[in-house]
Amino acid sequence: MARNKIALIGGGNIGGTLAHLAGLKELGDVVLFDIVEGLPQGKSLDIAQSAPIEGFDADLKGANDYADIAGADVVIVTAGVPRKPGMSRDDLLGINCKVMKAVGEGIAAHAPDAMVICITNPLDAMVWALRQYSGLPHNKVVGMAGVLDSARFRLFLAQEFGVSVEDVTAFVLGGHGDTMVPLIRYSTVAGIPVPDLIKMGWSSQEKIDAIVQRTRDGGAEIVGLLKTGSAFYAPATAGIEMAEAYLKDKKRVLPMAAHLSGQYGVNDLYVGVPVVIGAGGAERIVEISLNDDEMAGFTKSCDAVRGLIDACKNIDPSLA
Ligand code: APR
Repeated sequence: MARNKIALIGGGNIGGTLAHLAGLKELGDVVLFDIVEGLPQGKSLDIAQSAPIEGFDADLKGANDYADIAGADVVIVTAGVPRKPGMSRDDLLGINCKVMKAVGEGIAAHAPDAMVICITNPLDAMVWALRQYSGLPHNKVVGMAGVLDSARFRLFLAQEFGVSVEDVTAFVLGGHGDTMVPLIRYSTVAGIPVPDLIKMGWSSQEKIDAIVQRTRDGGAEIVGLLKTGSAFYAPATAGIEMAEAYLKDKKRVLPMAAHLSGQYGVNDLYVGVPVVIGAGGAERIVEISLNDDEMAGFTKSCDAVRGLIDACKNIDPSLA
């Protein structure tokens, strides 16, 4: 049986890390695409030269032509520009919306049967635009944000409780931005919900509130430290987890930006919700019950995403 083919559109910090991880995990052959000549070829060759040391078999190829992504099983999109200090994800919209047009058309022409995972920010609006431009089915186009946001939340909770990150589960709903909704009630240590852990004296409400805020600001904290770009190790790891769930038909339940068509009372919007991801793509959206506060937070987040989609439509009226 031939190996799976993974196309990575964007060969920058996240794209290069994705290629390395895909190799290390032997997920398949990798085509790293970028508009900059030499960059994806150089990174691919460098990673390929690590294969004999690590002992993985995968063809890694750099490309500047969309024809090279033909037949890809998975396409992960990181093309575009990242944030610099002082910028919000939304400031990237103008440039990255145009990038999504080129990428969406390239995928439609050469890899229309692929599962597409978008990472480019502002995430929820970009995955919506990418779906529009590519014309692929909604269940085959999703956005990576929730896995990353909940990983940040899990790390901070594990550090607060002094337990393994493995035993902490956490859920984050809504858009990938300041309005994201970390759900404390659905976050646990070995099944024990965080509110119960507060009652058990493991932490205080104030400390958990600070962790929620740090999670919301998780991307900005790293941009502030790096000064020249944004996070890439954890975003790439999160993207690979989603790709693996699809390729291995694992039916993982992962938070991601998925297309809502009535779920949670929301129509025609991409926003972060829990999703069963397997060989059918985004197979099922999990509708958990939300209390009034959580619903209010989710609605606010959806409104923010809608505002960004409207801004995309203003930039390119063909999207309207
Ligand atoms: N087609 C393909 N690649 C493109 C295009 C395009 N039209 N425009 C830009 N690129 C490439 C750039 O040449 C660059 O190599 O996208 C790459 C982006 O890489 P980085 O600048 O290193 O950004 P990165 O940290 O990987 O983040 C990419 O993901 O998390 C988001 O906010 C982040 O939107 C940003 C994206």
